[in-house]
Amino acid sequence: MKKLFAKKNRACIDKDKLPRHIAIIMDGNGRWAKKRGLARSAGHYAGSERFRSAAKYLQKLGVEHFTVYAFSTENWKRPKEEVDGIFSLLEKYLYEAINDLKDDNIVLSFWGDISPLSPKLIELIEETNELSKKNNGMHVNICLNYGGRAEITRAVKSIANDCAAGVLNPDDISDEVIENRLYSKNTPPPDLLIRPGGETRISNFLLWQLAYSEMVFTDTLWPDLTDDKLEEIIISFQQRNRRFGGL
Ligand code: FPP
Repeated sequence: MKKLFAKKNRACIDKDKLPRHIAIIMDGNGRWAKKRGLARSAGHYAGSERFRSAAKYLQKLGVEHFTVYAFSTENWKRPKEEVDGIFSLLEKYLYEAINDLKDDNIVLSFWGDISPLSPKLIELIEETNELSKKNNGMHVNICLNYGGRAEITRAVKSIANDCAAGVLNPDDISDEVIENRLYSKNTPPPDLLIRPGGETRISNFLLWQLAYSEMVFTDTLWPDLTDDKLEEIIISFQQRNRRFGGL
């Protein structure tokens, strides 16, 4: 059993039982800022910095897929100033990613309907997708204007269109046919979902993909979910008995 990051008197991560795919709902940025008397935008900034560090940590650990909920189809209900602030953090991240992708060896993808985003953001996303094709390291999936229901509806529409056009027989519709029309196509489902911020719900995130994921809900706010805390969560995940409906 290969063990990583052994610390005195502490359990450590079993490299042979790493979750292949970790998904995170990055919740609690607003409360993190409020606790410090700061504007909510400062919380999102801290959240985006935590995302960068978490991605580096998980990549070093050997996790293959890392998916985060950055902006949901429901987040448009927030004040315009806050929405614009989140998009400018994403823009900043994309500029950096375009510079760093050669050295970072991550494959960056965006899950969700990007069509209502600004032309600049769409251009940066397309450029990142193109550059990412050369890489083969950890897949980082950023869910942007993403909703689990919208994702499934989109897949159903595409299947219905193919059936109406006679290129797909309704009897041939299977889990695989549906999976191949989700944003997560070719990605194994998350082994572990982490939601910081104290809420115990999945808020329209990866509804199809989370069917057998292990879930960890913690009161820690996202900007405070350090690499050490991620390590503890992964260790607790490794102690679980996953049965996938079997015995
Ligand atoms: C939820 O916390 C967080 C969001 C809706 C936005 C998350 C976005 C980021 C962390 C920035 C994304 C940038 C990159 C580079 C991925 P909340 O605001 O609902 O927190 P609260 O419940 O405490 O108010």
